[in-house]
Amino acid sequence: MLNITQVTAERTFDQREFRHALSTFTTGVTIITACCGQGKPVGVTANSFNSVSLDPPLVLWSLSRSSSSLLAFEEAKHWAVHILSHDQDALATRFSKRGHDKFADIEIESGVGGVPLLSGCTTRIQCKTTRHYDGGDHVIMIGEVIKFDRSDMVPLVYQRGSYAIATRKEVTVEAEAPTRTRQDGSSPDGNSMTRLLGSAYFQLSGMLREYGAQQGLNDAEFFLLNTLAARDGLCLDELNRLFINASHSPLINILEDMATRGVLKMVADKGGPKGQALFYLTSLGHDLARKIADAGKQTEQELLGRLGTVETIALRTLLRRFVGAGINEN
Ligand SMILES: Cc1cc2nc3c(=O)[nH]c(=O)nc-3n(C[C@H](O)[C@H](O)[C@H](O)COP(=O)(O)O)c2cc1C
Repeated sequence: MLNITQVTAERTFDQREFRHALSTFTTGVTIITACCGQGKPVGVTANSFNSVSLDPPLVLWSLSRSSSSLLAFEEAKHWAVHILSHDQDALATRFSKRGHDKFADIEIESGVGGVPLLSGCTTRIQCKTTRHYDGGDHVIMIGEVIKFDRSDMVPLVYQRGSYAIATRKEVTVEAEAPTRTRQDGSSPDGNSMTRLLGSAYFQLSGMLREYGAQQGLNDAEFFLLNTLAARDGLCLDELNRLFINASHSPLINILEDMATRGVLKMVADKGGPKGQALFYLTSLGHDLARKIADAGKQTEQELLGRLGTVETIALRTLLRRFVGAGINEN
């Protein structure tokens, strides 16, 4: 729902509300650096950066008049814009706080006119100061681009007061595409989380089960091997309980067969709950489980490689948050 705030000639609107409204404009995050007269480096986190002109190549940003670095930037002949990469949010926080040495323990290179350059950024743009403009409680700085370099690093994003990453969204089609209809007349819900998570799981585990089959393991044996690899030394009752949940049975025949093949062993004398024997993987079983785990990692990497870096980070972040949502609110 639209939250309307009236803007009148008398400007009666609340400044905090105005800040919130502005924060809906998503930006990248930069650190802008320069050298003050005594050669000391200065730097601030800024998201007011923007491009102005291609020919001549001009960029701008605005600096608060309350910044302790104002004088240094006003006097600087050169400054450098660092467009931060997705993993530089801690650096952004460091350069947004005053009253400490922002450059402590940070390696810097020297750029055009001695401007301090940070590393690990998505893009760096070195500028010569061309003009300053009055911008209310900010000073607008315009610079001519002298040099720039860029990497493939995924950029950091700032939105609604939080650091974020931007992922490609699916293109919105104006007319809803016809959905496939089942024989009973209902349509599958492509947005159902149960369906999406289930498909993702079966896609990954299906590929792994196929690999297990190549190693001579049927589905039940594959499940058993992975269960014991995760937690060795389970008794028949415990395994049976897991097997019932996974709809595999009967278990004892499978266990005996795997023991004959040297994949697992039964240790009777240690005594499990109610005096039951415990099942352990042998070194052959552990090797097999490791091979499957390695194949799993490779499959995962292949699938995630098709998604790309940003989507992989976004998927992990959101899945973690989704799983965590079952435990706490965040
Ligand atoms: C994401 C983000 C973006 C910011 N953008 C700006 C900006 O564009 N201009 C500005 O003056 N301050 C901006 N700030 C605040 C400054 O980084 C902060 O006031 C400054 O670093 C304080 O230190 P100083 O007194 O040494 O300048 C931003 C802060 C954050 C966290």
